[in-house]
Amino acid sequence: MSRLHTEFAGIAFKNPVVLASGTCGFGRELAECFDIEKLGGLSSKGLIIHPHGGNDGIRIWETPSGIMNSVGLENPGIEAFIEQDLDWINEKDVVNIVNMGGHSKEDYFRGAERLNDVNIDILELNISCPNVKEGGMNFGVKTEAARELVREVRKISKHKLVVKLSPNAEDIVALAKMCEEEGADGVSLVNTFLAMAVDIDKKAMVFQNGYAGLSGPAIRPIALRMVHQVCKAVKIPVMGMGGITTWQDAIAFIMAGAQVVQVGTATFMKPDISLDIIAGVEKYMEDNHLDSLNEIRGIL
Ligand code: DOR
Repeated sequence: MSRLHTEFAGIAFKNPVVLASGTCGFGRELAECFDIEKLGGLSSKGLIIHPHGGNDGIRIWETPSGIMNSVGLENPGIEAFIEQDLDWINEKDVVNIVNMGGHSKEDYFRGAERLNDVNIDILELNISCPNVKEGGMNFGVKTEAARELVREVRKISKHKLVVKLSPNAEDIVALAKMCEEEGADGVSLVNTFLAMAVDIDKKAMVFQNGYAGLSGPAIRPIALRMVHQVCKAVKIPVMGMGGITTWQDAIAFIMAGAQVVQVGTATFMKPDISLDIIAGVEKYMEDNHLDSLNEIRGIL
C-alpha cells in the first residue's frame, strides 16, 4: 500500500487529495486534461433535486489573491447527473463524493432519498453556499437552524455523510460539534467567505446579489485556523480546504488535523495542479522518512 493511503470514515483514499466541488464539474472535462484516477477523490458540482439555472449577471470576479463567485448552484439536477455521469464516474478508481445543495429543506430531503437508490461513496451535504438567497447558507450560518436539516438527512441517507461548513457561520466549532452529535461521518470546511466587489466605473456592486463567495490564497490562513479549531474540537474526520495551492499548503492543513484536503480555486489556474500537490506531499514524506501521514496529522 502506498504511503499516501488515507482512510476517511472507513473509506479508503489512495491519497488525501480531492478536487473540491464546483471546480471540476462531474469530472469529464478534467479527464481530458489528466488522468483523474491519480486523485484521491472528486467532489461533484453541487447538485439539487431539480435543475437550476443559477444566478444572473456577473458570476466570477478575479482578485489579486483569489476569485469571487456567485454561480448560485447552477446544476443539471440529480436525475440528469444519475443518467449522464454517475456510471462514468463509478467506473473510475477514485472516491466519488456527491455534493448536494438545496433551496429548501424539502430539496435536501428529496435529494438524499433519490441518492439512496444509487451507488456513491460520500454524500457531501452543502449547507454553506453563500450565493443562494433562500436556503443555502441560511442553513449553515446558525447552528440550531442547521441541526434539524443535518438530523433529518442523516436519518434519510444510507451513505457516508460529510457536512460542508460555512466560514460565515456564527460559530464554526459549534456547527461542527452539532454535525458530530447528529451522526455525520465527517465535516468539510471551509466553503467560500462572503465578500464584496465594487465596479467603480459603474458605481455599483459587481454581483447582482451584492455579496459573493471569496476563495483562493486570500482565505487560506483563516481556513487553516478554522480547520485547526474544528479538528481539536471533534472526533469525526475533517476534509480541509481553503486556498490550498501547493503541496506545502496541503501538509499544513494535514498538520492542522485534516484527514483529507480539497483543492478548489487553484484548479482553475492549472487543471492538474492536484497532481503536483500529490507528488510534493509524497516527496516530503520520503525526505522526512514518514510511512504514513498519521505521523504528522494533527501535530500542531
Ligand atoms: O462559493 C460557492 N459557490 N460555494 C458553493 O457551495 C456553491 C457555489 C455556487 O454555486 O454559487
